[in-house]
Amino acid sequence: MTGTSAKALLGGVHVAPSILSADFGRLREQVGEVLAAGAKVIHVDVMDGHFVPPITVGPLAVSALREQVEVAGAMLDVHLMIERPEQKVSDFLAAGAHSITFHQEATPQVAYTAQIVRDAGACVGVALNPATPVDALADAASMNDLALCMTVNPGWGGQRFIATSPAKVARLCALVGESVTVEVDGGIDPTTAPSCRRSGARLFVAGAAIFATADPAEAYRAIAESVKAL
Ligand code: DX5
Ligand code: ZN
Repeated sequence: MTGTSAKALLGGVHVAPSILSADFGRLREQVGEVLAAGAKVIHVDVMDGHFVPPITVGPLAVSALREQVEVAGAMLDVHLMIERPEQKVSDFLAAGAHSITFHQEATPQVAYTAQIVRDAGACVGVALNPATPVDALADAASMNDLALCMTVNPGWGGQRFIATSPAKVARLCALVGESVTVEVDGGIDPTTAPSCRRSGARLFVAGAAIFATADPAEAYRAIAESVKAL
């Protein structure tokens, strides 16, 4: 998948299963289940033990999933919760990331980091922690493909959705305009996703609500259904 087709995909409304809550011993099998159910965006959470306390996966996980995801016509949406992302984005691009989203709080070099991703032909996103005002993106957002509004504090799956998030999503959508896809991440399930959709979000990351269930395919479909006709 090229950056152009990833950008086209991001123009739609999608649920992005987050592998953070998957069984890593059966990773390809679990990703296969949600791809078969129709998922077109697979979300990979990268944590460095500094920007957020846990350590998760690196470029090897991206390259391990690349072929399977591309064969399904889907994309890998890499969410970097790491300090100084400008030092690492090239590794994730080489591994096959179709979009890379890094945190505004993690670097003083937001525009430079975004440019590295863009020059490689991938989609670029900037993420905001719950305590970061949307205005932090005022001067850069319209140049990006994605704006990620964290709807929990980053670092862990299975947390409770922050209730004030839909209002923030609405402010973010107004700021970035239609050409930028607003993504929400954290505590997303069939009850919380619709309020974010009504506020203008188009990409819905869900980890525990999909992979911490007995039937990830069915759980994926339930969230997709909840945002479909809104
Ligand atoms: C949290 C990660 C999320 C996480 C969401 O810091 O960025 O992508 O997987 O998990 P749930 O959907 O379980 O809140
Ligand atoms: Zn994430």
